[in-house]
Amino acid sequence: MKKQLFVLLFVSCVCVFAADLSGNWVVSDPLPDGTVRRAYFDLKQAGDRITGHIRTGQFYFTVSDSSGDSDNFTLTASMLDGDSQRKATYQVKLTGDELQISTRRRPDAPLIEMVAHRTTPGEGAMPARLPLPALHQVPSNRLSQTPPMGWNSWNKFASRVDDAAVRGAADALVSTGMKEAGYVYVNIDDTWQGDRDAQGNIQANKKFPDMKALAAYVHGKGLKLGIYSSPGPNTCAGYEGSYGHEAQDARTYAQWGIDYLKYDWCGARNIYEDDDMQAVYQKMGDALQATGRPIVYSLCQYGRADVWKWGPDVGGNLWRTTGDIRDTYDSMAKIGFSQSHLARYAAPGHWNDPDMLEVGNGGMNSVEYQTHMSLWAMLAAPLLAGNDLQHTSPEILAILTNRDVIAIDQDSAGKPGTRAVKNDDTEVWVRDLANGARAVALFNRGASEAALAVKWADLGFTMPPTHARNAWTHEEVRLSDPECSAIIPSHGATLLIVSGRER
Ligand code: GLA
Repeated sequence: MKKQLFVLLFVSCVCVFAADLSGNWVVSDPLPDGTVRRAYFDLKQAGDRITGHIRTGQFYFTVSDSSGDSDNFTLTASMLDGDSQRKATYQVKLTGDELQISTRRRPDAPLIEMVAHRTTPGEGAMPARLPLPALHQVPSNRLSQTPPMGWNSWNKFASRVDDAAVRGAADALVSTGMKEAGYVYVNIDDTWQGDRDAQGNIQANKKFPDMKALAAYVHGKGLKLGIYSSPGPNTCAGYEGSYGHEAQDARTYAQWGIDYLKYDWCGARNIYEDDDMQAVYQKMGDALQATGRPIVYSLCQYGRADVWKWGPDVGGNLWRTTGDIRDTYDSMAKIGFSQSHLARYAAPGHWNDPDMLEVGNGGMNSVEYQTHMSLWAMLAAPLLAGNDLQHTSPEILAILTNRDVIAIDQDSAGKPGTRAVKNDDTEVWVRDLANGARAVALFNRGASEAALAVKWADLGFTMPPTHARNAWTHEEVRLSDPECSAIIPSHGATLLIVSGRER
């Protein structure tokens, strides 16, 4: 009997050991663009407890908790992201030589199932923090004396952007009159990157067969070409970043004929601290300048670490002030109406960037898209259209190309407007213009129409103005002393250019 028990115990121990998950695992997912997306699981099992690290795309998680047994483990993985904790949960199960893994991006998102195989120890380990340069002032490149205008692929195309989409956008900028209205940058966002060659030079993936030829095509239309990278090993979408290749990549971009770089923190978040950001961004700022090619430098780190205070010092022409915009009124309004306190940091050559336009992407109505444009114009924000330019309705085109609204955005004084008055759901913003006129924007954030009347004195006018033009309709507006008034639809805006008397 005793002997039988011993055998039973021995057999069950063998089973547990056979199911040991310890080791380095890799999930390889080949994409149609010729790149391979990899996720690494570096796990250590002791009994029914699992520790280790998980690297997936831009994220490097530590396994902070595990439960279950060899039949099915649940791993909770966490990482510090700035001030907040990110968490991910994985179900893992060993089947033969394969690790079956499932996860969800969000609790309500569809299940993602993966299969991992054993790989060499150390593969996929997070690279070390690179030594950073001492801080200094990168000389101004004198570009972007008014906020950059153009188009960016991300909001509409995301990972579907390719050579044809970029050529199509360039063609459409010209044929729709948007180029004439001032939109000149054609910016390729994330997912263009391929592997590096034997010398470490970044190459585009299959979607972009010849970057130099694409640049020549875009330049041939009198437009400029922009590109995207990250100081980390991976971009937000998991593609190759510029980590350890900063100067080399800057030279490649210059050689291709690139005119604009958006440099996105993303994959750098697990390597550097927020306090390192200035030095990290300075490194690329210096690298771009060293190429001798004028390249607009767009900082994208979601407004962390008070970027507006040091953005110009690293050679930045614009810096994102918030997280990503979505194509909803709430997202747009949350971002746009929160920018007043940043006005003093913008000036010709360096701009606050509340993110790209969603105008025309379908998630807002025309009134709301007009508000989006009105607000971005008041903020002196970069105007980077984010819609499918080849399929733009005349109504959307009219919103994107209104000459008075663009003139407010592009005003040469480069002083963004600020909120002057806020009452419940209504706000009035005022922006000083170079010729002494002012732009006045009346917003209704509420769910029903609002009649708004504000004393000119409360908007900072010592004397009421004598002339007003509606920027959207170009019509003269009769002013009613001593108030500025308008009836505004729900989520709408009235945008006036006022002048006369005091200024
Ligand atoms: C981040 C940026 C976006 C876009 C994506 C691409 O989320 O903030 O604007 O560039 O990355 O992956």
